Amino acid sequence: MSEAIKWVKKDPLKENVFWPNEAMKERAWVSDESIYAEAKADPEGFWARQAEELHWSKHWDKAYEFAPQNYKWFVGGKLNLSYNSLDRHIEAGHGDRIALIWEPEPVDEEAVKLTYKELHRLVSKLANVLKGLGVQKGDRVGIYLPMIPEAVIAMQACARIGAPHSVVFSAFSPDSLRDRMIDAGAKVLITADGYYRRGKAINLKKNADAGIQGTPVEKVVVVKRLDGSVPMEAERDLWYHELIEGASAECPAEQMDSEDLAFLLYTSGTTGEPKGIMHTTGGYAVQSYITAKWDFDLHEGDVYWCTADVGWITGHTYINYGPLMNGVTSVMYEGSPDTPDCGRMWAIIEKHKITQLYTAPTAIRMFLKWGDEWPAKHDLSSLRLLGTVGEPINVDAWMWYFKKIGGGRCPIIDTWWQTESGATLVNSLPGIGPFIPTIAGRPFPGVIGRILDAGGSPVPAGEGGYLSIVSPFPPALTRGIYGDMERFKAQYYTEYGPERYFTSDGARVDEMGNIRITGRVDDVMNVAGHRLATAEVESALAQNDKVSEVAVVSRPHDLKGEVPVAFVLLKAGVAHSDEIRKELMGTVTTVIGPTGRPDEIIFVDDVPKTRSGKIMRRVLKALVRNEPVGDLTTLQNAESVDHLKEMIGYSG
Ligand code: WT7
Repeated sequence: MSEAIKWVKKDPLKENVFWPNEAMKERAWVSDESIYAEAKADPEGFWARQAEELHWSKHWDKAYEFAPQNYKWFVGGKLNLSYNSLDRHIEAGHGDRIALIWEPEPVDEEAVKLTYKELHRLVSKLANVLKGLGVQKGDRVGIYLPMIPEAVIAMQACARIGAPHSVVFSAFSPDSLRDRMIDAGAKVLITADGYYRRGKAINLKKNADAGIQGTPVEKVVVVKRLDGSVPMEAERDLWYHELIEGASAECPAEQMDSEDLAFLLYTSGTTGEPKGIMHTTGGYAVQSYITAKWDFDLHEGDVYWCTADVGWITGHTYINYGPLMNGVTSVMYEGSPDTPDCGRMWAIIEKHKITQLYTAPTAIRMFLKWGDEWPAKHDLSSLRLLGTVGEPINVDAWMWYFKKIGGGRCPIIDTWWQTESGATLVNSLPGIGPFIPTIAGRPFPGVIGRILDAGGSPVPAGEGGYLSIVSPFPPALTRGIYGDMERFKAQYYTEYGPERYFTSDGARVDEMGNIRITGRVDDVMNVAGHRLATAEVESALAQNDKVSEVAVVSRPHDLKGEVPVAFVLLKAGVAHSDEIRKELMGTVTTVIGPTGRPDEIIFVDDVPKTRSGKIMRRVLKALVRNEPVGDLTTLQNAESVDHLKEMIGYSG
């Protein structure tokens, strides 16, 4: 452990409540509590002041405009996300700073470092390539790329020409890619031949080829990450490096309306069908920029590493747009944290002298399990701040992260937010604190959070309720579900009406206003940080023709947070066996990808149903968690519950 840090203790009775010391306060962008009251008194003014830090080719006329399900920020303003990420810094004379460090998985390959100027050049070239393929402002472009620099280059190139990107996580199946390309109506897809994962070369092009069958995709730009030995379909498939070589590096950034669509990102709702979350340009730019800066205390020269995949919102906002708009160095790692050994994370931190690390509780629990000896082998003294995201963190994981990784010096910023919010909403700020295990903190200045009961009344401090965000909404909050505004309204603005966004998360607040997130209150799971609806796993399993009926519920898991458990009723005449179990796992992998695989498949003869024939998932959930099953009087087949209890060894 390097130099001991004096944490401020305000209440001697409270263990593990850390407050920033003078040095941290001095360094932080905000360190005065009054920022909260000030922003609360005038949220529109607060956000407008932050927006002034970005480059607008036309200033907005009005900061915020609200109408039910139609709220707008920086109305009349024009800007470009890529200009703000790249050109702005080059024009300020910072073009030679490193924008991106890419660490390949194989240790014998060298890291790639791109300056802002170099990144700008590649982005401009790809932007011209896309234009050459007929992509115009407003056209959606698919991106199905692994963790390679081209993923950032591709997003930036789309932003540059105003073509909304739709990034699909590279571990998602061809079926998932297909659904998303069809829904978005994408004519161009950017993908790669493959990538390295756990020392193995993974063929991505094969999945891309399968996934674009039956979609509007006409042209496929293929990045050569491996040896390029994949089949290329004449006319349709084009090598990225060849296109780039011939392209001009001059591409003026398209001036976008503040409310123009910036990108789509598909995420799980409660049904089997993912929804295309829409983010618009101005509000997203402002909130991404300022939250990255204040939450992670980004300063000139910082080397900041967010370990999320680019396929998630965290990758969009906190690998790409947020850090780049702040002009710092953003680090990307291609592969797995246990390759070549369980010390890879810490080796990367030592090698690149990383100053901020942002990762998920699931990963932290895994590192903890691997043991203290791995981080102990490396010099982690460059770290100044730690972040977590994606799921509630437990005390043990928090304390381990704090002591073993942060050396007891670094605040932990536990950021609560969602794909829908585009940027962080609830977390303590590094210069203000407090940092308390399992507590996210206060809503970011300008964000109005309320914990409400089912009827919409605020619950007293200490009691559980539903977290809601109140208008004026944070600028980056989603403006819709692509092609389905009815679903948008039903999902977010029916529970508490149009002026209170329903988050689907349970929460509690203490007297100081600090929020503890207790988890989803709908049928959305958080599996190792991956958001997944139980209904998606059900509909995947139902695609197997041996399955008659299926119900999926979530169960807590030590490492992954939550895992799906499937109750499967096979068709008459089909006997259950390990073979069929394997086959069903395979079906899920094909339809969703490995993230959707159930932790357990339980073959049953009957599942509890209401008189109207609906499966009572609540009962199944209680069974797999060994919790009281509650009232069974509305069941048509209460005896099925006793049978299930016996089968799974229920003891609750
Ligand atoms: C859901 C959103 C936010 C980017 C990554 C996930 C859960 C997120 C936290 C946190 C407790 C958290 C919520 C939320 N969640 N961050 N710090 N503490 N829970 O984005 O895939 O859209 O998932 O993740 O349940 O609703 P996402």
